[in-house]
Order: sequence, then C-alpha cells, then structure tokens
Amino acid sequence: MDMNIVVVSNFDSMSEEVAKIVIAQIRRKPSSVLGLATGSSPLGVYSLLEEYHNRGVDFSKIITFNLDEYVGLAGDHPQSYRYYMEQNLFARVNIKPEKTHIPNGIAQDLQEECRSYDETIRQVGGIDLQLLGIGSNAHIGFNEPGTPFGTTTHVVDLTESTIRDNARFFASRSEVPTQALSMGIKSIMHAQNIVLMANGGSKADAIFAALRGPVTPEVPASVLQLHPSVTVVVDQAAGSKL
Ligand code: GLP
Repeated sequence: MDMNIVVVSNFDSMSEEVAKIVIAQIRRKPSSVLGLATGSSPLGVYSLLEEYHNRGVDFSKIITFNLDEYVGLAGDHPQSYRYYMEQNLFARVNIKPEKTHIPNGIAQDLQEECRSYDETIRQVGGIDLQLLGIGSNAHIGFNEPGTPFGTTTHVVDLTESTIRDNARFFASRSEVPTQALSMGIKSIMHAQNIVLMANGGSKADAIFAALRGPVTPEVPASVLQLHPSVTVVVDQAAGSKL
C-alpha cells in the first residue's frame, strides 16, 4: 500500500541506501531484530555495516534471523548460508554468535526445525526490519512461485530456475542442493518494516511484476504490495521497467 520506491544509479548507491536504513534502525533501537538475506545483492550492504561498526556502531544487542538455508549443508560448508553470513557479516561486527539465527539445514527433524524457527522469532517479539533480495522468478527467501501466502517457515523444493541461478556458486550443477528451509511468506510479512533490494537487468522483469503486476502467489514478491511499510531500493537496470 505504502510502498516507497527508490531508484539509484548502481550497486554501490543501492548498498549505501540500504545500509543507511539498517543503521537508522539500529540507532533507533540498539536491540533491533534484523531479518537478513544472502545472495550477491546484500554483499555491499554488509561491507558497509562493517565500516559503520568500525566507526562505532554497536551490534552487541542486535538479534538476527536469516531467511533461509540449504537442506543438507552444514554451517561450515562454504556454500551454506551460515558460512556466508559468518564470512560477510558476523565475523566483522561485534554481534553475539548466540543472537544469530539461521535455519539448520542438517537438523534431524526438518519440520520441527521450521516450527521452532518461527517460534523463536515470536519469542523475541518479531522482526523489526527485514532485508530481502529477489530471485529472477520473483521468489523471496526461497518461496518459489505458487507458494501460498499463508505459509510459515517450511521445507522447499527448489525450482529448476533457482537451481540454475545458484549453480554458479557450486563446482557443478549436481552439487546444488534441491531443497531448502525458508521463512514463509507469512513469516516475512510479519516483519514491521521490509527493505527489498535488487540490482541488474536480470531482475527487471521480477521487479516490474512484483511492484506493478497483480498480487498473486505466482509472483511471490507481489505480496509486498499488501505490507504497510516496504522500501524498495533498486538500481536503474533493475528498475528499468517501472
Ligand atoms: C537466493 C536466495 C534469495 C536471494 C536470491 C537472489 O535464491 N535464497 O534470498 O534473494 O537468491 O540472489 P542474488 O542476490 O544473488 O541475485
């Protein structure tokens, strides 16, 4: 409803805009609960957060929940999202390890892992600010097209297009996991504030469909049109069809 759309020139300015929003949130509430994303889109944001930290911003009270994790990858696997977060953010700021949450992709009972993940988010009072990237098929987290909007954290079968998009990070396509754990659309929509970021022409169709098209589970990110506080930060290439 109240979508604030910011179009900037390139990846660096997108990263600066989003980092400023995160830092403002942390200054407003030092014990903020942040929802974090992986992929290439937030990498610039995380290195700017490290710079802010080096200049005095305190992360010691921050609580984080990541959107998703691959099924079958342990946290020390270089392509796991736990590993990504440790490398790109957690080891670079003074966040407390026990305050960081990422679904456990090697949990014995995946259903129970999903249930308790949503429960833990509830226990800390919900997410104050959720960062989102977007897949080229408009998925958010790993909520693929067709995922009902009422879904909470769940086990996902990845689509062919997502497996293909992510294959570049693995030695071969056959090594890309075929399942993931993902916060659901409903879990994401519970966040008080959401920032969606995208860069590059490969995201232009997804951004157009999400912001200007009908609200439908076939375009998972279109659900954000129903959220009361969303900021979309895109570079010119990703925003070229708006
Ligand atoms: C993955 C992640 C998403 C991410 C998307 C886009 O599938 N699960 O959370 O938004 O990829 O990734 P990138 O930012 O690398 O384009």
